[in-house]
Amino acid sequence: MDKIAAVILAAGQGTRMKSELPKVLHPVAGRSMLGHVVRTAQAAGAAPVVAVVGHGAEQVRTQFETEFLEFALQAEQLGTGHALMCAETCLDGFAGELLLLCGDVPLLQNDTLQKLIIHHREQQAAVTILTARLDNPTGYGRIIRGPSGVERIVEEKDASAVERDVREINTGIYLFRAPEVFSLLRQLDNTNAQGEYYLTDVVALARQAGGRIEALAVEDVREATGINDRRQLAFANVVMRERINDQHMLAGVTLVDPAATYIDVDVEIAADTLLYPGVHLRGATSIGSGCTLEPGVVVTDCKIGDRVHLKPGSVLAESVVGVDCAIGPMAHLRPGTVLDGQNKLGNFVETKKAQIGVKSQASHLTYIGDAILGKNVNVGCGTITCNYDGVNKHQTTIEDDVFVGSDTQFVAPVHIGRGSLIGAGSTITKDVPADALALSRTEQKVVKGWAARNRKKAEKSKK
Ligand code: UD1
Ligand code: CA
Repeated sequence: MDKIAAVILAAGQGTRMKSELPKVLHPVAGRSMLGHVVRTAQAAGAAPVVAVVGHGAEQVRTQFETEFLEFALQAEQLGTGHALMCAETCLDGFAGELLLLCGDVPLLQNDTLQKLIIHHREQQAAVTILTARLDNPTGYGRIIRGPSGVERIVEEKDASAVERDVREINTGIYLFRAPEVFSLLRQLDNTNAQGEYYLTDVVALARQAGGRIEALAVEDVREATGINDRRQLAFANVVMRERINDQHMLAGVTLVDPAATYIDVDVEIAADTLLYPGVHLRGATSIGSGCTLEPGVVVTDCKIGDRVHLKPGSVLAESVVGVDCAIGPMAHLRPGTVLDGQNKLGNFVETKKAQIGVKSQASHLTYIGDAILGKNVNVGCGTITCNYDGVNKHQTTIEDDVFVGSDTQFVAPVHIGRGSLIGAGSTITKDVPADALALSRTEQKVVKGWAARNRKKAEKSKK
């Protein structure tokens, strides 16, 4: 079988995005457009995969440092043909098939590429173009056929009125023969409406050289959508989301309203989990089985165990939640939270860098930061770990079976021994040994009749 290399064109500015960010770095379902194209190229078996970069080249390179991706620089954007020329040195000595992709066509799928590859091989073509039949072909290059098949591609700006009526368009995706295409590129000129070196002109050149030109139409034309502005970006997100959500539903996840459920491409969800509308699952998140995620839950880069109930409006990031936990409504788990399992965190509870043992709970209005809690700790309403002195962060440690009364402040660093009890309303500044009672309220004063006398005084002064 022939070897396949891929070149992804990604040097253009993307002016219509009106963005500081290079166009190909804009995300679709949590992965950059270029990232989607790179994965598809890899799935198709291409190696090496070369990205031609120009605008924002450094930013693009940095983001893809860890991927198996090579870079070719196109310092000046002189056209798609010139862009491919810039990749030639990366493919020195490569004699297989060359798959050409665009960094701004993120919806293309490997299944389609496999059909393209099979067709190209069966027909022994010099060039196979992936085409699409569109009701409105405006803006795209048109496929011009003659009596013996495809002859050339004409860009809209160079097309005659008759040519513009053609509805079969060039998606900008092709298979070539590697050494051949590079020698044909040397014959390109830029005498056209845009003064650019058009890659599309290679088609006519290959034909003149006696090669066979094939065109294969993509089945789902949405795959061919090039993303040039933010409306198309939104469209790509809708289509990608639909694919992702379909996969989860087919794998046993219930989505009450798929159109209103936002799941990034790398998220994993086990079967029998239920997602209500307005749930956002982002980044490298995994969700166990039998979970319920209620409306407005936002989870980023978390690992959530089985049978976890996330109640409305809860926000979780970079945290680990063990099995059988109940969280929220309106709870906030910030980075470094680890719940060992069977925990309950209620409304308006915030945690950060907090390791919380099995069955410990904080049901209301609490901040637990830079803390280690053992098992079966009951944290009363309004408890605060005072972890920050304005300069440094300090640790609070609470051992197993401690009962913390409501409205307690732990002024860290402080260590609470196993089985002790903290009286409500205490400000704890010193360590507490095991099984002790710690209490720091001032004694209550009662002045009999004071309120009545005060009311009388007020009435008199009104008269
Ligand atoms: C191109 C095709 C057109 C096709 C359309 C499909 C040409 C001449 N025309 O037109 O037939 O219907 O794609 O979407 O090829 N790029 C570079 N360097 C450059 C110019 C472009 O890397 O100098 C990259 C862009 O970043 C983009 C891709 O090539 O990823 C396509 O370029 P674009 O300018 O969008 O081409 P179109 O005018 O859309
Ligand atoms: Ca384009």
